[in-house]
Amino acid sequence: MVQLTLPRGSKPKTGKVHKAAPGSKDVKTYKVYRYDPETDADPRWDTYEVPTGDHGPMLLDALIHIKNTIDPTLSFRRSCREGICGSCSMNIDGRNALACTKGWDECASNNITISPLPHQPVVKDLVTDLSLFYAQYDSIQPYLQSDEPDPEKERLQTPAEREKLDGLYECILCACCSTSCPSYWWNQEEYLGPAALLQSYRWISDSRDDATQKRLDDLEDPFKLYRCHTIMNCAQVCPKGLNPAKAIAETKKLMVAPSRKKAA
Ligand code: SF4
Ligand code: F3S
Ligand code: FES
Repeated sequence: MVQLTLPRGSKPKTGKVHKAAPGSKDVKTYKVYRYDPETDADPRWDTYEVPTGDHGPMLLDALIHIKNTIDPTLSFRRSCREGICGSCSMNIDGRNALACTKGWDECASNNITISPLPHQPVVKDLVTDLSLFYAQYDSIQPYLQSDEPDPEKERLQTPAEREKLDGLYECILCACCSTSCPSYWWNQEEYLGPAALLQSYRWISDSRDDATQKRLDDLEDPFKLYRCHTIMNCAQVCPKGLNPAKAIAETKKLMVAPSRKKAA
């Protein structure tokens, strides 16, 4: 049975405390959410005291150090360590971020709280099940649909057409935005969420794609698009500096544009 991350204010019990060696200097304390659905144990917060000189500058360096030298049972995802793959998204001091691009010295205090992405089923510790998130991405058909025959070489765009994709194509599907959106927390079975909607707009904006009206038809639904209430958490947390809220607003404008041709 998977465990949903507890809502803000809920308190998993206090777990183990791993103390730094006596006399250690520049110690940071990491309070980390722990949960293993394969045991009957409730979620808990384990605490790790780690001297900053023992590892590199990023929070992911601290987590890797904890796993390698203090507690090999800690689970988290990571791959590229460069802010490209989107694997290491988690909640750090109450805000979703990538652990590999956030420095521990950027945190407000020496006590840093790390938990999984909010309101997602927890697979183990900091690893969440993003199956629904990926299914929603799949549902917007994230690939080129052209009525033109396949060209011999590339499909050309003008510089201005290509520029329209800036701020959209850079998304790494880390889910920081969707899992910070209260509307997504409460309606995630029906509302597509900011990440999938940003990707939808990326294809709607692509001059080479001919499925614009069909893509808009697919969003004609009380929930999929219109559950965005402009809360703006998505734009605040995106580690790539993207603005899903703007993409959603532009999509809503296209829904009522004079050029709109709804399916019969
Ligand atoms: Fe992550 Fe930003 Fe893409 Fe959302 S829009 S999935 S926060 S990169
Ligand atoms: Fe959510 Fe962003 Fe809209 S936080 S409500 S998707 S503006
Ligand atoms: Fe790839 Fe952090 S490990 S984005």
